[in-house]
Amino acid sequence: MTTTYPTSTPPAKSYNLDDWRSGYRSQSQEYSYWISDIDGTIPPDLEGTLFRNGPGLLDVAGHPVKHPFDGDGLISSVAFQNGRAYFRNRYVRTAGYVAEQQAQKPLYRGVFGTQKPGGPLANAFDLTLKNIANTHIIYWADRLLALWEAAKPHRLDPATLDTLGLDDLNGLIASGGSFTAHPKIDPGHHGQPRLVGFSVKPGLSSKITLYELDAEGQVVIQHSHSVPGFAFLHDFAITPNYAIFFQNPVSFGPLPYLLGFKGAAECISFNPKQPTKILVIPRNGKDPMQVIDTNPCFVFHHANAFEQDGQLVIDSVCYDRFPSLEGSQDYLTVDFDRLPPGQLWRFRVDLATATARAETLVSRCVEFPALHPDQVGRPYRYLFIGAAHAAQGNAPLQALLKLDSQTGQTDVWSAAPRGFMGEPLFVPRPQATSEDDGWVMVLMYDGDRRCSDVVILDGQAITAGPIARLKLSHHVPYGLHGSFVPQYFGPTLD
Ligand code: CO
Repeated sequence: MTTTYPTSTPPAKSYNLDDWRSGYRSQSQEYSYWISDIDGTIPPDLEGTLFRNGPGLLDVAGHPVKHPFDGDGLISSVAFQNGRAYFRNRYVRTAGYVAEQQAQKPLYRGVFGTQKPGGPLANAFDLTLKNIANTHIIYWADRLLALWEAAKPHRLDPATLDTLGLDDLNGLIASGGSFTAHPKIDPGHHGQPRLVGFSVKPGLSSKITLYELDAEGQVVIQHSHSVPGFAFLHDFAITPNYAIFFQNPVSFGPLPYLLGFKGAAECISFNPKQPTKILVIPRNGKDPMQVIDTNPCFVFHHANAFEQDGQLVIDSVCYDRFPSLEGSQDYLTVDFDRLPPGQLWRFRVDLATATARAETLVSRCVEFPALHPDQVGRPYRYLFIGAAHAAQGNAPLQALLKLDSQTGQTDVWSAAPRGFMGEPLFVPRPQATSEDDGWVMVLMYDGDRRCSDVVILDGQAITAGPIARLKLSHHVPYGLHGSFVPQYFGPTLD
């Protein structure tokens, strides 16, 4: 058999779609063990616990989900002490997970298009949400919380990952209420750390409620704001004085969802002629919100924001349109070339003139930004972010990119062709004096072994590659977000 190529052969892809797809197999096993297969050395002064969350089940009793975002939340933890690491993973025992595992069939529709068996008739007008607890996991005020933005957090035991039940943040979240999957930890609000979070009630006009919790988990400030139109707000950014949201120019036409043909998120459409609205809400709860128009774009995640010379600077991962899977049968047949890449943009907002201007910081396809936790909301220099192997085009994340925002220099370590990147986290080295003196930690997928690796890189030398690669004996399906905490939650060492 001969193959004829066009005269200008497209560049070879940095990845193999079978490898990529194989990271989306359900992981139904729950493990707990000391990791023993390690390349390199775990830094002896690295102590604490990495928590990761993401969809672990890509099917319910053989019925595949339409989109991974509909998969049940699987928590992984890796506890580090004295150069050793202990792995554990557990499903969040949500009411929906427990009921479906008992019934051995899907009982719920998913927001991202997963339907119950039986066609539209079986799904029409069933607007029950399954709280799948699959997006993020945070540790605040001695509580480990698995988050999903459309419902309440689930509280877990940090040592065993056992599910302790729904958590309403000391009565803060009313019955039927929700809490963002992207709260921010303000490292020092007048010297004290705070958890800043929000909930949003979308509709013809959308209501945003901001909450700030002190280190004991008590609410210290709470205020609500209405914005015209539908607001899809996954993430936000904070500075010492402001909470900043990007209201993407999207509208919601719920009819196919109500009638049982589509998931709610599949009913979102992008309006390229309308501006993105930057909502700037003073955190004091007293001053009015300001709304500033900027270029039409779609944002899931913000990297950081800060105040400088009377301006607000916001760094965000922007898509030129809503990256929907329109035209694909399901996510496994996605054509990466047809989707827009996320790029890192910087927005400078002048509050006095209510104007914004945007510039591109990183044009390579990037997603999942991370930085030094003490720089959240403050001027910062270094950003670590998942990136595509190639400098142009859209592709799965296979590389780690470090941006020096002072010089514009970018460093890249790529795990292509067989490695696939997750969200990096930056862990400062104890007694570090420089912002990038620490470790970058990623839970990656190895398409060669069909297993996952916990990879640790030196934040000052990422191009040198991992200083330690901890090879898990199984895979963890591609995840979403996680946290590193300085407390060690592994077994007691002998
Ligand atoms: Co997110």
